[in-house]
Formats: sequence, C-alpha cells, structure tokens
Amino acid sequence: MSERPGARPSPHPSPRGGEGGFRFEGKVVVVTGAGSGIGRVIAHRFAAEGAKVAVVDWLGDRADGVAAEISTAGGKAAAFRADVSQAPEVEAMVAQVESQLGHVDVLINNAAIADGDDVLRIDEATWDRDVAVVLRSVFLCSKAALHSMIGRHGGAIVNIASVNGISALGNEAYSAAKAGVINLTQSIAVRYGANGIRCNAIAPGTIRTPIWQERVDRDPVVFERLVKWYPLGRVGEPDDVANAAMFLASEEASWITGIVLRVDGGLLAGSARMTRELLAEAGSEELEP
Ligand SMILES: NC(=O)c1ccc[n+]([C@@H]2O[C@H](COP(=O)([O-])OP(=O)(O)OC[C@H]3O[C@@H](n4cnc5c(N)ncnc54)[C@H](O)[C@@H]3O)[C@@H](O)[C@H]2O)c1
Repeated sequence: MSERPGARPSPHPSPRGGEGGFRFEGKVVVVTGAGSGIGRVIAHRFAAEGAKVAVVDWLGDRADGVAAEISTAGGKAAAFRADVSQAPEVEAMVAQVESQLGHVDVLINNAAIADGDDVLRIDEATWDRDVAVVLRSVFLCSKAALHSMIGRHGGAIVNIASVNGISALGNEAYSAAKAGVINLTQSIAVRYGANGIRCNAIAPGTIRTPIWQERVDRDPVVFERLVKWYPLGRVGEPDDVANAAMFLASEEASWITGIVLRVDGGLLAGSARMTRELLAEAGSEELEP
C-alpha cells in the first residue's frame, strides 16, 4: 500500500483559507466509507487542513481506528457507525454529527461495494444491494445534509463515482449505479445551485486500495498488468483522488458545479495499448516509448 495518510499542515495553504491559513479550518466535513482506502486518506487530508472530520463507516471499528489516527496526528475527528444505504441510520448519523461537530459544510459520498457479476450471473438481491450502497446512499446522505446546507445557503457535495459510470468496464450493477451517481450529481447541482450549494463528482480509474485485495490475492500482479491501459503509466493512489476532492470542496472551485472530473491517468482519453498496436501496424516509428 502506498497510502500516505497523516495529518500535516498543507505545504501550500490557500491564501483564502481561514485561521492558520488552512483551507478548511473549522469546517465540518463528512466522509462516508472513511474506514478504508480512498475515504481514509480523504479524511486525513481534510483534517490536516483544519477540518472537523466525521469518519463514517458501517464497520464501527474501522471508523474508530481512522478517527483515532487523525486525533493522534493532531487533527479533529469523530467516528460514526452507519450503513449509509439505510435512511434511519443516515438520519441518525447526520443528527449526531450536527450535535457533536456542527452543521455539515462538506459531504464526501465515498462508500461503495461492488459484489455483483455480469448481467447473466448477478442475482436480484446482489444487484439491489450494490445499487443501494452505491447510489441510494448518495441520495440519502445528500438529502440529510442538504436540509441544513439550504438553511445556511452554502455547502459542497463531492460524489466519488468511477470510470465504470462512464464506460463499460465490468461490474454491471456497480457501474449502472455509478452512472446514476453522475446523473444525480448534475440534478443536485442544477436544483440547489441557487441555494449556494455545489455538487460535483469524481470518476477515478484504478486506485490501489483494499477494495482490490481479493483480486490481488488471486492475481498478485494485477496492478502491473493494468498499468498498460494507462497513458500515464501507473495506477492511481488514494492521494490522487483526495487532491481532486479537496479542490472541488474548496473555495478555489466556487464556480464549478455539476461536473464529473476524471482522475484516471488518461484511461478514458483512449487506450495507450491500442494506439501503440495501431501505430505499430501502420509501421510508425514513433511508437516505441
Ligand atoms: N479503488 C478503486 O480502484 C476505485 C476506482 C474507482 C472508484 N472507486 C470508488 O472509490 C470509493 C472508495 O473505494 P475504496 O477503493 O477506497 O474502497 P474500500 O473498500 O477500501 O473502502 C470502502 C469503505 O466503505 C465502507 N462501506 C461500504 N459500504 C458501506 C455502507 N453501506 N455504509 C458505510 N460504509 C460502507 C467499507 O467498510 C470500507 O471501509 C468507492 O466509491 C469506490 O467505488 C474506487
């Protein structure tokens, strides 16, 4: 793992940041699925820039562990156990966040699972569960946070979608739900823009996180093999997604809403491997890197 969590002051504090120059000083940031992978690193990074972070995960011990890591590193964080696909748990979680930390300024909808197989093999229950955790969770958490964001005329929502929501790359239920997340992002952006709320999505390509562990156990060189599809010649790291999430949540993105920002090493720009092979067939000499 090459995650680089750890609360530390930003080496490049925003000139428009709050006290101490940190971009998110005193802001309440809710990160779902923050007990692992990308969410964990996003939680650390916001805390390092002064935010009070709600570390939300349905595995309470994971949420507790990440909140403790952040506190040990000098940041402010509290753990909340909730299954974000279930309305009563989401409503209770947001109420607890607001009473312990304050009103939600930033919501990062990051939790997801991808248990399904292709259309002919996935059963209905697995389909429903994948879609609920990936898409219904974004609806429920956004709804719960929007109430107070509208009242205070401000807030930012960042939805972690996927390149799977844009192109056919397997995991059909997960992918269809991620496409829904991208569309819902646009609906929230358009409908609540006049209320001072921005909503954007990030579509990561392959990111080295524990969600890949089962695949790595079966195929230890999976990342090395995937690299050939990436024009930038590497798979992503959680910090690549965290950089984009912090930008989209920040004042620097104050006139950006309803977008899907691909953080994918160029994957969807075209196939590096196919281009090399086509050029080779054409006898081009430019191809060898
Ligand atoms: N890793 C990748 O290659 C990749 C690529 C594209 C998009 N993404 C997206 O990035 C996000 C984070 O993925 P990751 O790789 O860090 O995954 P991960 O499995 O490492 O972490 C996900 C966390 O979400 C939690 N979670 C799952 N379901 C939940 C629920 N119903 N309620 C609350 N918590 C729940 C899990 O317990 C886990 O701690 C996901 O939205 C995923 O779809 C990941």
